[in-house]
Amino acid sequence: MTLRIVVLASGGGSNLQAIINACAAGDIEASVVGVASDNPSAFAIQRAANHQIDTAAVTPLDNEARTSFDSRLAQTISPWRPDLVVLAGFMRKLSVSFIQHFPNSIINLHPAMPGQLPGINAIERAYGEFAAGNRSSSGVMVHFVPDEGIDTGPVIASMPVVFEEHDTLHDFEQRMHATEHQLLIGAIRTIISQRQKVTTP
Ligand code: GAR
Repeated sequence: MTLRIVVLASGGGSNLQAIINACAAGDIEASVVGVASDNPSAFAIQRAANHQIDTAAVTPLDNEARTSFDSRLAQTISPWRPDLVVLAGFMRKLSVSFIQHFPNSIINLHPAMPGQLPGINAIERAYGEFAAGNRSSSGVMVHFVPDEGIDTGPVIASMPVVFEEHDTLHDFEQRMHATEHQLLIGAIRTIISQRQKVTTP
């Protein structure tokens, strides 16, 4: 059975692209059936459109409550009937009501090791600590999203990324993104094989 993936992304969408490429190459038995963003000008939307994937921009309204936005987002993506919702650079906290729409089916990618550097700009913050002599490595993780915790939840996969002596922020960023693209596909593959075990008698 082909896993139906919906991706939520706020920015450039290089991780979305990695998923699209892995599906096209047959590396994962999956298909991206929709991409939604809170940012109508996100390049992720353009990437999806380039591959004839359905897209939706759900833009927050002035003073809109988080639960109202999340309810509109859930209503937007539900018709795509996702088996898996992938947060790939989606920079909003999702409320329990949204999470309950897709039980055990939301995963998040975060550019840090489990328990470290939650929130935005984790790559820049890790580099700042390295430059100050306080950090020798960081890493990437993919985890389930069971609640409203920020970048926390049961870990599916993680991989360290070690600093090299003369790393610039750009060098480090490049290695982090390359690691993300690899780890995210591996995590989706793990989920597919776990679900196959559950459904196979
Ligand atoms: C990635 O580095 C991802 O790990 C990060 O946003 C970036 C999106 O890149 N997510 C977080 O920081 C979540 N807290 P992309 O738009 O090129 O895929």
